Amino acid sequence: MQTDESGILEHISTGVIALGPELQVCVMNPAAEVLLEVSAARVIGNHASQLLLRSQELMQTLDQARRAHASLARRSVQLLLYSGQELQADLIATPLVDHPAGYSMLLEILPIDRMLRMSRDENLLQAQETTRAVIRGLAHEIKNPLGGVRGAAQLLARELPDETLAEYTRIIIREADRLRDLVDRLLGPNQRPKLQALNIHEVLEHVRNLIEAEADNRITVGRDYDPSLPLLPGDRTQLIQAVLNIMRNALQAAETPEDCKLVLRTRSQRQFTIGTTRHRLVCRVDIVDNGPGIPDDLQQAIFVPMVTGRPDGTGLGLSIAQAIINRHGGMLECASEPGNTRFTIYLPMESDHAETR
Ligand SMILES: Nc1ncnc2c1ncn2[C@@H]1O[C@H](COP(=O)(O)OP(=O)(O)OP(=O)(O)O)[C@@H](O)[C@H]1O
Ligand SMILES: [Mg+2]
Repeated sequence: MQTDESGILEHISTGVIALGPELQVCVMNPAAEVLLEVSAARVIGNHASQLLLRSQELMQTLDQARRAHASLARRSVQLLLYSGQELQADLIATPLVDHPAGYSMLLEILPIDRMLRMSRDENLLQAQETTRAVIRGLAHEIKNPLGGVRGAAQLLARELPDETLAEYTRIIIREADRLRDLVDRLLGPNQRPKLQALNIHEVLEHVRNLIEAEADNRITVGRDYDPSLPLLPGDRTQLIQAVLNIMRNALQAAETPEDCKLVLRTRSQRQFTIGTTRHRLVCRVDIVDNGPGIPDDLQQAIFVPMVTGRPDGTGLGLSIAQAIINRHGGMLECASEPGNTRFTIYLPMESDHAETR
């Protein structure tokens, strides 16, 4: 390869990094500096693993490319920068053989355009909406005859000549009730949220008390609140339900409550787009736990109703939480790896509601 005399690398928007034989950074173009929020002057000579706060996936990509002796692309990788910001990008690693300047690897970092990400999210949301609609239809179909079965069993119980047979009708009634409760949860919260100006910290503190009580005070819940957050329009009962479902999962995923370290964090975020609406200000709530993480095969599907990784789970908690947040015009996201699972709730803080303090 000739040197980049034309300065082309200076002008492309893809981050390009050339690594030496020990995977030390040798060349870095300005786009890579901007994307990774580092200056080339400071990182040249450093090992590639020091480019990011969490570089596991980057290093895996480089390693796999090196072993395969072929270019390797990894799509949609979440990179954690030193600033704490996350960058979603495609990574392409290309091993270089006998390079005249001694470079051993070329790394390209292509940021995923926010619009593209949004449309991916939109597709996902659409698919989830469809699943939810199918399940809701099915739930209604089950509920109607169920009322009939229960009523008939009650009538039958009264007519039974022999008390010993009553056990059977009791079973029918009990199981019908169990099924009705399940179907009610499947149908989800059926009321539109009643929006009132509320203090999100009051909601979080309430759920924290509930969870601590559930865990016999054996759980640690850290807090990192932004006290300057204004009130926001929300339905208190529904938001409590949503946050409780998320926090309860973390508690259930931990081996013992003592192992479960939860952190609640609030921040405001300016100019944020949810779906197709751009909001001037949104409230961001992170619920982070240190548990085992969501199993890989479940990650894409956790918001789909009835998807569960627990033997006694119904798989409805997160689907209900997402439905509630969506009805608030908000968004629920998740990123998980062992030791670090984060659910993020975004809620719009439309000023017409928020100002009615
Ligand atoms: N913080 C977490 N850590 C590890 N796994 C999680 C976490 N949150 C969710 N999960 C996984 O996602 C699955 C789906 O969660 P969801 O709350 O929707 O259903 P559930 O907990 O199985 O049942 P339900 O909430 O209806 O009782 C869980 O079964 C679990 O496998
Ligand atoms: Mg749950």
